[in-house]
This record gives sequence, structure tokens and C-alpha cells, in this order.
Amino acid sequence: MRVAMDSKNVVAFQVVTFCLCLAAANSIDFSYPAVFNFGDSNSDTGELAAAMGFLVSPPNGQKYFKTPSGRFCDGRLIVDFLMDAMKLPFLNAYMDSVGLPNFQRGCNFAAAGSTILPANAASISPFSFGVQVYQFLRFRALSLQLLQGKKFDQYVPAVDSFEKGLYVFDIGQNDLAGAFYSKTLDQILASIQAILLEFESGIKKLYDSGARNFWIHNTGPLGCLPQVVAKFGTNPSTLDELGCVSSPNQAAKAFNIQLQAFCSKLKGQYPDANVTHVDIFTIKSNLIANYSKYGFKQSIMACCGYGGPPFNFDSRVSCGLTKILNGTEITAKGCNDSSVYVSWDGTHYTEAANQHVASQILTGNYSTLF
Ligand SMILES: *[C@@H]1O[C@H](CO)[C@@H](O)[C@H](O)[C@H]1NC(C)=O
Ligand SMILES: *[C@@H]1O[C@H](CO)[C@@H](O)[C@H](O)[C@H]1NC(C)=O
Ligand SMILES: *[C@@H]1O[C@H](CO)[C@@H](O)[C@H](O)[C@H]1NC(C)=O
Ligand SMILES: *[C@@H]1O[C@H](CO)[C@@H](O)[C@H](O)[C@H]1NC(C)=O
Ligand SMILES: *[C@@H]1O[C@H](CO)[C@@H](O)[C@H](O)[C@H]1NC(C)=O
Repeated sequence: MRVAMDSKNVVAFQVVTFCLCLAAANSIDFSYPAVFNFGDSNSDTGELAAAMGFLVSPPNGQKYFKTPSGRFCDGRLIVDFLMDAMKLPFLNAYMDSVGLPNFQRGCNFAAAGSTILPANAASISPFSFGVQVYQFLRFRALSLQLLQGKKFDQYVPAVDSFEKGLYVFDIGQNDLAGAFYSKTLDQILASIQAILLEFESGIKKLYDSGARNFWIHNTGPLGCLPQVVAKFGTNPSTLDELGCVSSPNQAAKAFNIQLQAFCSKLKGQYPDANVTHVDIFTIKSNLIANYSKYGFKQSIMACCGYGGPPFNFDSRVSCGLTKILNGTEITAKGCNDSSVYVSWDGTHYTEAANQHVASQILTGNYSTLF
């Protein structure tokens, strides 16, 4: 299904082979009884596919799960690697009901295409941040109800996991990157305040329900996504020295500066909470700029797509799908070795890139505890 690659939806990630040293290099000591995740396709472990009723097509999932697994990636996402580091199982998507889902160690509300701002009729995902928060509140209320009967202890989080658990956020990319199709940079910059107000209102509801540990990812270099470069980067004057489109990166930077200030404000409001900010932008920019140093061969061209160099991206046909255009059948196929590509499908990062990003997060060098 095309959800992941439609022009309005943007999300990203990826990694390599250094991962054996992940555990050894961790300087972040992660220990939480459960994780509650909110976001977009960067951390969607099957939510949008379950909710809308479609199968993500191969070669998505080819690498680790050997089946698409509902993720827009050849394998694992950053959140999967973080769960590994916490020695917790991968998160089940909230709406995925098939196959005995287990929520004892947390739940994933992230859905591909989601925005922080409320969805509208044209949105890919109706599950914007506010909805994800309401889903969580319902999940919490029903879990507490079930726990009274004792029969379901093994399926839902323990009572104190709601307070002691980690609340992870990776959302905002679609609010910014999606907006470039209809708005100017100035309009987008002006919308950041409203985006963060909406974010704040959701986080406040979580805090009021007992959440105390917040882990907030900032947004990546959106102007480096092949989808964005293919659409907005045809004129070389729009590109920066990395070959990325400047204005989406400017929007991402402006958002991130305000997000950091927001984290500080949050801590001020809630002195009894832990607020951790993680600088994904710096990790991903460094990866794209210095890809060969990290074992990659392609920083911008997508692994799974159609059209060949320089981007191997065609907005008309999503990874794994076949279409007839002008009477010719075309298929967006996977590359031979996704582990040397940063971009999986033009919008999302490869497993190799995700693994690299996660390993950088786990060094602790990119996080700030407010
Ligand atoms: C904040 O983090 C510290 C260190 O991980 C932990 O000991 C403490 O319990 C956390 N605070 C809350 C309110 O969960
Ligand atoms: C690429 O690596 C060089 C050398 O380590 C570093 O100075 C530079 O900041 C990196 N580029 C980015 C965008 O992080
Ligand atoms: C189909 O035709 C249009 C107009 O002639 C052309 O721009 C486009 O590239 C063609 N598509 C393919 C897949 O060849
Ligand atoms: C992928 O591998 C096949 C078979 O080894 C080879 O023919 C093809 O040229 C390779 N494609 C690329 C893009 O390297
Ligand atoms: C983290 O940063 C420190 C200080 O800059 C550096 O010595 C160390 O190598 C970094 N750790 C990793 C794993 O990159």
C-alpha cells in the first residue's frame, strides 16, 4: 500500500553491521518496566496497517522479520533497537489484534503519516498526536480495569508501570515535511508554535494520568529525504552542501530549537518528571554527511524504488508495488544490499541506518536530561 510514500507523508531512518558492539558501547542505562510510544512511521510497528486494513508489501521486512511486519522498512526501526537495549520485547501496535498481542511491557500508538496537529480529511493517518494520547488513556483505563480481575496480568502493564514506564515521542516530521507541498517556508516556520502547543497539551494529559519519564526525539534533516530532494531539489540553488534541500532542513532546525526550549519548559512545569531530549537531527545529518565512514555506500538514493539514480524514487509507485503507467508495467523493487543504503524507500531509513542511529543514541552523547 502506498501510504508510506504518498507525497504528503514523510518519515525517516536506517543502519549497519557494527551492531554487535551495541550492548558494550551503551552508556545509557535503560531500565524501565514498560514503554509507551507515540509517533509516525519512524516508529510505527504495524499500527496504520492494522487500523486501515492493508498489508505492507515485500520487500519491506525482508531483512529481519522475513515478512513485512507492518513496518515501512526492510527491517527493524529505532524503537525496536531501543527496546532491545532495554531487554524488552518489541512493542505491539495498539490496534493490531491478530496473533495474541501482548502489552505487558508497553504499547505502541505510533501510526505512519501521523502529525502532531489534528488530522483533516486529506491526512494519511487520522491518528494524530491528540488521538494517540486518547488511545493511551483508554488503554490505561481498560488495563487497570482488567488488572482487578487478575486474569490478565500477563497481557497488560502492571499498575505501577504507568508511572515508572518510559513515554517515547518521535513525531513532528509530517507536520513540517508534509506542509511544503502547500505552504511557504515562512508559513511553516510560523506554524511551529501551534504544533508545539498541541504537543504540550497531549503531554500534559499524559502527565496528569501519571506519566513521569518523557523521552523526546527531535526531527531529522527532512530536506535530505530522497522524496523531498526529488520533488523540491531539481534546481541546484535549493540544495545545501550535502545535496539536501535547504528550506525543509531550516524548518526542521527551527522546530528543533523550539522543541528543546519546550523540553526545558516542561521540566520547569513538572519538576518531578524526567524529560530527556534526543538530538536525532545531529545523528542523521552526521550519517548523511559522513556515510562512508559508517560503512554506507549511498546516502541519498533510495534502495527500494523506481527510476534509478540519482534518487531511485518515483512518487507514483511505492516500494514493493507495481503499476501500469502509459501502458508500461513498472515495479518499485528493492536493491541488492540494503545494508549499504541510508534510505530504504525514499521516505524511511533502512534497518542498517536505524541501527546506526540507535547505537548513537545509546552512547548518550546526543541526549540531554532536563
Ligand atoms: C528519573 O530518572 C531517574 C534515573 O533513571 C530515576 O531514578 C527516577 O525514578 C526517575 N524519576 C521518576 C519520577 O520516574
Ligand atoms: C562529518 O564528520 C566530520 C569529521 O568527523 C565532522 O567534523 C562533521 O561535523 C561531520 N558532518 C556532520 C554534518 O555532522
Ligand atoms: C508517461 O508519459 C508522460 C507524458 O508523455 C511522461 O512524462 C512520463 O514519464 C511517462 N511515464 C513513464 C513511466 O514512462
Ligand atoms: C544485483 O545483483 C544482480 C545479480 O547478482 C546483478 O545482476 C545486478 O546487476 C545487481 N544490481 C545492482 C543494482 O547492483
Ligand atoms: C561520546 O563523546 C565522547 C566525548 O566527545 C567521545 O570521547 C566518545 O568517543 C563518544 N562516544 C561514542 C561511542 O561515540
